[in-house]
Amino acid sequence: MDKEPVKTAGASKRIVSGMRPTGGLHLGNYHGALKNWVALQHEHECFFFVADWHALTTDYENPARVGDNLHEMIVDWLAAGLDASVSTLFVQSRIPEHAELHLLLSMITPVPWLERVPSYKNQQQKLKEKDLSTFGFLGYPLLQSADILMYKPAWVPVGEDQVAHVELTREVARRFNHLYGREADFERQAERAAERLGAADGASFRELRRRHQEQGEAGAVEAGRKLIVNHAGLRLVERERLLGYLEGSSRSILVPPEVLLTKTPKFPGLDGQKMSKSYGNTIAMREDPDAVVRKLRTMQTDPARVRRTDPGEPEKCPVWDLHKVYSDTETQEWVQWGCRSAGIGCVECKAPVTERIVAEISGFRERAREYEANPGYVRDILARGNERAREVARTTMDEVREAMRLDYV
Ligand code: TRP
Ligand code: SF4
Repeated sequence: MDKEPVKTAGASKRIVSGMRPTGGLHLGNYHGALKNWVALQHEHECFFFVADWHALTTDYENPARVGDNLHEMIVDWLAAGLDASVSTLFVQSRIPEHAELHLLLSMITPVPWLERVPSYKNQQQKLKEKDLSTFGFLGYPLLQSADILMYKPAWVPVGEDQVAHVELTREVARRFNHLYGREADFERQAERAAERLGAADGASFRELRRRHQEQGEAGAVEAGRKLIVNHAGLRLVERERLLGYLEGSSRSILVPPEVLLTKTPKFPGLDGQKMSKSYGNTIAMREDPDAVVRKLRTMQTDPARVRRTDPGEPEKCPVWDLHKVYSDTETQEWVQWGCRSAGIGCVECKAPVTERIVAEISGFRERAREYEANPGYVRDILARGNERAREVARTTMDEVREAMRLDYV
């Protein structure tokens, strides 16, 4: 059965995440990330963007493809159920403030912090045919930090491979606050801001701060933050002081975000490896149903099951991974028993997942139709999203420039 995507405590806290424009998405992308985004948008204020500049960090030789890839991907976002009236959907390069923040953060980020990010060396080794010795590629996690910090999210939903990037983001935010959020009489100013919380909230705030700083109590920072963020009577600078006071001794201008780890079952490709465009083993989200049936018919099964009468082992079969995503308990038990006893054949075994996948894809195709027929709709959606994102970005950059004393003209 489909697992419920991760839920989080404390609704209505902002979420930011991005995706490189790889073109049309496949079922692995859907079950690995997109489905989770769709669920999150109903509980949180969400900003989702196309990381088109990120595509250039590894593919600067082929920029001509980015536009079409971007369009195809957005159609799949909408087909999956992302709702532009609920979430803000936008394009990174249309918000030039991302580049400005990236540049300013680059001034304070030690190069070894970037060289230490695991994906830096991994990707260079894995993608030997590409030239990844550029400044842009080294700085790519910092661009990601700018993408995130711009919107001051509480959470960044990402997979395991992106966790180190969010950690870098937290460190960069702390360094920024330490450098530019210090004030001569910070403690006194922060105490004065705490008074503005009123007697009851003020007392709770001090207690949470004490529990965090003296006892390292998990959750105390979260609770304190919530109290501050939800408080209507604070000026921005007071809010920044209190957020910083909770954890340290400087204003919190850029807010260190938390990772919201997306836990996903392994989603197998047709050859049994992880589903990935680079392996050519995918089923597209808008694949033709006949093609789905054909592809699944020849999908890899337990190699030990040569004849219909040979028993098999689901754990060695990628079709079983599909059953884990798509089938209910009863069907799963039927597979376990039928495979190990040779009571069912592989063709039979594939039938229920084939049916579920065809149904899922038909839903995507149905929803995508109006956007395929009217490219103008997609353009309008992005234009509106860009505008909304830009408003937030402008505000953050005003604060950043002010904190850095760059607001001189
Ligand atoms: N680096 C991410 C990836 O390759 C994409 C990305 C760019 C991102 N900026 C982001 C993800 C900000 C989350 C938040 O998948
Ligand atoms: Fe795989 Fe099902 Fe065949 Fe077993 S019966 S090998 S689980 S396809």
